[in-house]
Amino acid sequence: MARYYAEFGTAEELPELLEWAAGRELIILGGGSNVLFTKDIDGLVARNALKGIELVDEDEDYVYVRSGAGEVWQEFVEHCIARDWAGVENLSLIPGSVGAAPMQNIGAYGVELKEVFYALEAWHIAEKKAYTFTLNDCAFGYRESVFKRQYRGQFVILNVTFRLAKKPVFRTEYGAIKQELERMGVQELSIRAVSAAVTAIRRSKLPDPAVIGNAGSFFKNPTITDEQFDVLQAEYMDIVGYHNNGTDTTKLAAGWLIEQCGWKGFRRGDAGVHARQALVLVNYGGATGQEIYDLSQEIQASVHEKFGVELEREVNII
Ligand code: EPU
Repeated sequence: MARYYAEFGTAEELPELLEWAAGRELIILGGGSNVLFTKDIDGLVARNALKGIELVDEDEDYVYVRSGAGEVWQEFVEHCIARDWAGVENLSLIPGSVGAAPMQNIGAYGVELKEVFYALEAWHIAEKKAYTFTLNDCAFGYRESVFKRQYRGQFVILNVTFRLAKKPVFRTEYGAIKQELERMGVQELSIRAVSAAVTAIRRSKLPDPAVIGNAGSFFKNPTITDEQFDVLQAEYMDIVGYHNNGTDTTKLAAGWLIEQCGWKGFRRGDAGVHARQALVLVNYGGATGQEIYDLSQEIQASVHEKFGVELEREVNII
């Protein structure tokens, strides 16, 4: 629960709202789909509702498209697909808003936001002015950016500009996509077909947050050294890991680790672990944020005990 809640639909309203909130606890939300609240907020929760999608520039190969941070991510994706602007089709059906996408460099099915990112504008709350961030300013990493780390809580993202391709480069190397395209009987690749395949895969594994509370993957897939991986593989032959090219490290599938600890489909009260994807924690309705958080700690402890691997949360905890 929050003491105050507001939405801002224009960039002009924002300074006024922030002025009003000065000295109070302040949380800015996009769609709120990657946030777990474990306590009440004795201040203002303000939802970013900055709308509008605009073609701002184009050249021979690319279009540059600016979207308000409060647009729903999936609606932005559909807007691009309808106009044959390529690059975000693999990111179909990710919950959340456009402004939240760069916060954690959303990624799925072999593509990360940073590959289509061009620039963003963000409002510096303390300095009361807008800054432009280009790709290098954002320090994007695996589910990481400066906005989640050193600038956490300091900026409000106003809009994001994407660079999308006029000629698509299809990214179907992620195993399940090819199988799904085949299953769908697709003869000729298209942006729409790739989006439909990704959508079908997501629907088959991931719960819809509109139906059952969840924040997608609750943990990141952990990276360990190749040496550690070899030791684990000697004991657990079917452990799932992907070598990080150009390094001596391997990324483990956290879902596999959690499943092996017996958590898949687990339920206590209204807090649980999704039955088709152990990396997703679910709230069947009445669980408190604290109960979900406690469950995540138990999962971390058991994965650590069995495999000696630390799971880091991907979700933002408040
Ligand atoms: N697996 C299991 N048991 C499970 C879940 C997964 O054994 O319960 C194994 C399977 O062998 C599978 C492998 O783990 O082949 C990988 O699973 P999956 O393809 O479902 O992807 P993921 O690594 O669990 C990541 C992202 C997802 C993204 C998918 C697809 C992270 C933390 N998660 O999940 O992103 O949709 O890949 O690209 O990197 C999110 O960030 O919220 C999110 C949903």
